[in-house]
Amino acid sequence: MTFRDAASFHSRVPSFPKRISMHTNHSEAEQQFDLLVGRFSKPIDQALKRFAWPKADAPARLLEAMSYSLFAGGKRLRPMLVLAASEAVGGKAAHALSVAAAFEMIHTYSLIHDDLPAMDNDDLRRGRPTCHKAFDEATAILAGDGMLTYAMEVILSNVRGANVATRVGLELARGAGIEGMVGGQQADLEGEGQAQSLEKLVYIHGRKTGALITAAIVSGGLVGGASTGEIRKLRQFGCEIGLAFQVVDDILDVTSTAEQLGKSPGKDQAANKLTYPALMGLEKAKTYAQELVNTACKRIKDLARPEALTTIAQYFVARTH
Ligand code: IPE
Ligand code: IPE
Ligand code: MG
Ligand code: MG
Ligand code: MG
Repeated sequence: MTFRDAASFHSRVPSFPKRISMHTNHSEAEQQFDLLVGRFSKPIDQALKRFAWPKADAPARLLEAMSYSLFAGGKRLRPMLVLAASEAVGGKAAHALSVAAAFEMIHTYSLIHDDLPAMDNDDLRRGRPTCHKAFDEATAILAGDGMLTYAMEVILSNVRGANVATRVGLELARGAGIEGMVGGQQADLEGEGQAQSLEKLVYIHGRKTGALITAAIVSGGLVGGASTGEIRKLRQFGCEIGLAFQVVDDILDVTSTAEQLGKSPGKDQAANKLTYPALMGLEKAKTYAQELVNTACKRIKDLARPEALTTIAQYFVARTH
């Protein structure tokens, strides 16, 4: 595997301040997040129900497997980011709901495939048996494929304005695709057993997780009517908090329990994955994630309503599952 453009990705990650300038009270970050969940969870649930393949003419078992994974109770962070980014630039939530649902579908597809025996081989996800355990491998592969393509259908048939729909479709395709999540997943698998290095980690984590998070935020901005300058800020914010999100995912894999996570911990070390805790230790990894989030939040502070985005970003580090 070559990591030839890791350096260019890395150059988009900020240099870190020498000292953490904004100390976060974690319980306060979680409280703020809970308030936001109170505001966003109902519209997100309604949007998922509305856009998740109503009356689709498809085999019942395929639809059952797709719904099994989508409605298994994830944190819904990507749809929250879509709504928060739209709000940050003064957009209307109603115009962002189809995009919010589409990103949760893509994310859920990525989890179904990530858990397959050929990839991370996991039995537990969102507190339930993984899709291939509850159904079978072929159905799980097709359920993932189905959700990926259906998400594109949701965007192309529901986003208002052909130009905005095209731009959102492009963001989603790039974020989920070979230069984004899929490429990152390949690099993650090839990285198993390799020597830990910061350059490789920025490449892998920025892509397998950061790219879709960034695409969700930028797409929220696009449906909210963001200017070019606002999109630039949102993209940089997304790259930084997206990377931080996966750093914390690595930390929780070491420190948390299956009960808390709804997935099996300890898998990264068992598979010899490249991870931040293995590279720099738990404490430094946590500081690294917090600094990324703090830097990211400063970039969006001048947007019209950055509060919800900031709350989600701070929760990315404070979270325990
Ligand atoms: C887990 O994502 C997979 C990664 C990209 C690290 P989440 O932690 O957002 O999973 P859910 O959606 O809450 O299940
Ligand atoms: C997941 O990374 C990235 C994607 C699903 C694209 P992980 O493999 O670390 O995610 P978990 O820990 O299984 O949720
Ligand atoms: Mg994985
Ligand atoms: Mg995994
Ligand atoms: Mg993980």
